[in-house]
Amino acid sequence: MSIQLDQAHTTAMPIATAAGSACSGAPWKASIVAELAEVVRNEAVNAEYRHLVVNCSEEAAAAQPGQFFQLLCPQPAGEQPFLRRPMSLYGADPDRRQVEFLYKVTGAGTRGLDTLKPGDRLDIMGPLGVGFALDPGWRHIVAVGRGAGLATLAPLARAARANGAQVTAVFSARRPDLLVSVDLFHRHRADVIAVTDSEQTSGPANVERILRRLIADGRCDAFFTCGSSRLMRVQQRLAREVGLPGQVAMEQQMACGIGLCYCCVRDFNVNGEIVNRRVCWDGPVFDLMEALP
Ligand SMILES: Cc1cc2nc3c(=O)[nH]c(=O)nc-3n(C[C@H](O)[C@H](O)[C@H](O)COP(=O)(O)OP(=O)(O)OC[C@H]3O[C@@H](n4cnc5c(N)ncnc54)[C@H](O)[C@@H]3O)c2cc1C
Ligand code: FES
Repeated sequence: MSIQLDQAHTTAMPIATAAGSACSGAPWKASIVAELAEVVRNEAVNAEYRHLVVNCSEEAAAAQPGQFFQLLCPQPAGEQPFLRRPMSLYGADPDRRQVEFLYKVTGAGTRGLDTLKPGDRLDIMGPLGVGFALDPGWRHIVAVGRGAGLATLAPLARAARANGAQVTAVFSARRPDLLVSVDLFHRHRADVIAVTDSEQTSGPANVERILRRLIADGRCDAFFTCGSSRLMRVQQRLAREVGLPGQVAMEQQMACGIGLCYCCVRDFNVNGEIVNRRVCWDGPVFDLMEALP
């Protein structure tokens, strides 16, 4: 059974509509479905992250980069995850009708996801929220992410290539073996610069040096970021200094995920005025310059 809602957004445009066309300037209407998806794969990619692939409906498989799903996680032994867990789209294949997630096993919900086997059913609700928007004029984009933010940024690699843009990814992790999404970005001919805590290369000063070099080389028409407030602040400073646009995917604790409960409200600075926005409904992707850490 699937329940269908309509979500009408005018604040940002998706990279492509369900029909596959690029940004048109018209209001975007996406269908949100709640359905039982069949697990195809649920495998470890390293010590912390799992890759989950499910068969789903056409509506769910039309999810766009930056959007997310609310997953009703199975109960792991002795625990009862309350509420659905928000999970970014890692990949979508409308032809095979599949969506993919990359999750870090953190607490009760993700421990429940870790129990899923091929053939099991997972209750998914989505696609939700406003995703990334790519300007067709951008030839080079820079994606800066850390932790689970690398999962959120991953679908940009394919979308940017389809739009004719070259991607440079600056990916941050505690250790090299915890970096995720790197192969996926390489497959889409992106350049990946890895910075890690263990090699003492992930500090904001070094990331700023890397970004300044990319800007000087003409390889940054826009920033896309997720997963680190410190790195977001570096990009905000550079974007303001040299007049670049940017987008940030924000994480916030959520309950309903569809704009009703207001538990995910955050402050944004819009032209000097503090404005409240719901991360699940008005985002999770926002204008880089409006986001407050
Ligand atoms: C829009 C969005 C996209 C996300 N995408 C991913 C992803 O692609 N991969 C991934 O590994 N994680 C992602 N997260 C974080 C993920 O939802 C949490 O890590 C997960 O909910 C942890 O749940 P848990 O039950 O395992 O942990 P618990 O610690 O038991 O979670 C307790 C509660 O806190 C909430 N919570 C915990 N951490 C976060 C967090 N960082 N952000 C928001 N809520 C949190 C949970 O929803 C839950 O209600 C995303 C979060 C948001 C808001
Ligand atoms: S989670 Fe309910 S309004 Fe955002």
